[in-house]
Amino acid sequence: MAMSAQTTSRGSYPRFHRWWRNAVFYQIYPRSFRDSNGDGVGDLDGITMMLDYLNDGTSNSLGINAIWLCPIYPSPHKDWGYDVSNYCAIDPDLGDLESFDRLISQAHQRGIRVILDFVPNHTSDQHPWFLRSRSSKEDPQRNWYIWAPGKGGEPPTNWMSAFGGPAWTYDSQTGEWYMHSYLAEQPDLNYRCAEVVGAIHDVLRFWLERGVDGFRIDAVARLSKDAELRDNPTQSALAGITRAEGSGVRVNFYCHDRPEVHDLLRGFRRVVDSYGERLLVGEVWPREPSLLADYLRPDELHLAFNFRLLKSPYSASAFGAAIRYGEGLGAAGEWPTWTLSNHDFPRHISRYQSAEATEERARMAAMMLLTLHGTPFIYYGEEIGMREVDVSPSRRLDPMGRDGCRTPMQWSAAMHGGFTVPGAEPWLPCGDYTQINVSEQARDQRSLLSLYRRLIWLRQRDPALREGAYRAFDGVPRDCLGFYREGAGRRLLVMLNFANAARETESPAGTLLLSTKPERVQQTLEARLTLDANEGVVLDLGNA
Ligand code: GLC
Repeated sequence: MAMSAQTTSRGSYPRFHRWWRNAVFYQIYPRSFRDSNGDGVGDLDGITMMLDYLNDGTSNSLGINAIWLCPIYPSPHKDWGYDVSNYCAIDPDLGDLESFDRLISQAHQRGIRVILDFVPNHTSDQHPWFLRSRSSKEDPQRNWYIWAPGKGGEPPTNWMSAFGGPAWTYDSQTGEWYMHSYLAEQPDLNYRCAEVVGAIHDVLRFWLERGVDGFRIDAVARLSKDAELRDNPTQSALAGITRAEGSGVRVNFYCHDRPEVHDLLRGFRRVVDSYGERLLVGEVWPREPSLLADYLRPDELHLAFNFRLLKSPYSASAFGAAIRYGEGLGAAGEWPTWTLSNHDFPRHISRYQSAEATEERARMAAMMLLTLHGTPFIYYGEEIGMREVDVSPSRRLDPMGRDGCRTPMQWSAAMHGGFTVPGAEPWLPCGDYTQINVSEQARDQRSLLSLYRRLIWLRQRDPALREGAYRAFDGVPRDCLGFYREGAGRRLLVMLNFANAARETESPAGTLLLSTKPERVQQTLEARLTLDANEGVVLDLGNA
């Protein structure tokens, strides 16, 4: 990988060519990471305080080198920050622009890149743009959002909100309906209006000027809608248009994956590229899996999440299919990404729960995530095995029931897991921090945290793991996965046994670099290897 000697105005911060290929991302839910001011809500200064935990330059830290921050903008929090009421400011709960600048500069000093969540599909209904748009049909900003008359008292189209119910809300003041892909409090912007495109480009520039390294773009596939506002067809009706199987299920054909979305992305890309090496990674849920590649054309997104892995149950065949899909995208020149958990889904350790092997499964998943070819994204707390928290009805905040994966980071066994001061009430309840916390796992060489650290540092130091090609290895039984990582003159072999019983594999002679089982003593391996139940290994096969 070419590393240019170029430095930024911030000093000795090196610029990498396509730095994201060498990145291990860490997703932070800012309200839940660390509270610096004792109000029970995590904040930007709290994140800055904990940067050494993420990477202090030594293998005593986690070793990640990029952060994705979930939305940090002012918001009425109907959808916890994904309903933005001002794109160019910081939510006062989280800090201000000074604390933001501190975070960026402190992260960069440690070689950690920072990308922001960018939510262009919709704003809050409290955003001044929407307040104006809603105020009258004659307002110059009326067409910044998608307004239409109803059809005989019914919504203009049969489009559905991703959160359930019609994607339209009637506004009695002007007698028209406005469109929203999510909550009624999240009206969709109208990208057929050139002023909206210009205003959103200015938002990108605002943050790029402040030094952010890129953006995770929210809800990409929904950005553009049919100009004629046609009703979505059923699968059977669509079968005439595409070769899809017929059925009565309605397909998001006219409000999803519209061709114009690609022009919009090209516009975003031009803005971002004018600032040098900045990243666009998209949250894309395409209507059909094969459409994902379109978003990764050379002048559109650099990366897109591959949710197949996150959606897979704990099994070699499901993981194998997700990996083949990701690698298949890679075959066309795109760079894969891998993620097991995020702020929208139950934590994977809880999804993989099994009577006797929950922790072992999390260790296996970590080895898979961090040895695959492509950029891994870790969700805060997964490195210590934080569980999904069963939030009691009186404490629930998210309208879609996602609170359980957004609870405070468990730093120690102290009150509130050390997330906030003892006298404060954390904004969401904490999980079992007496059993699962950073400070105990940091001291324990056998802990999940220690395994994450070893895996990440192994990846950071080994060019074959970072950038080497992926090639499936067939010498493993069906309930196992095996793959080579080959590059920079080196060859590694990863073998993962997802079965609850030992499995024998073929094994080229090699040296053990790491096992998910701290008790494995065998270091040099010959023609056969017995993997323990739920054991994964990384072998060094020497020079290629
Ligand atoms: C994305 C976000 C999710 C949010 C939705 C609407 O899917 O990940 O948290 O609710 O978009 O912005």
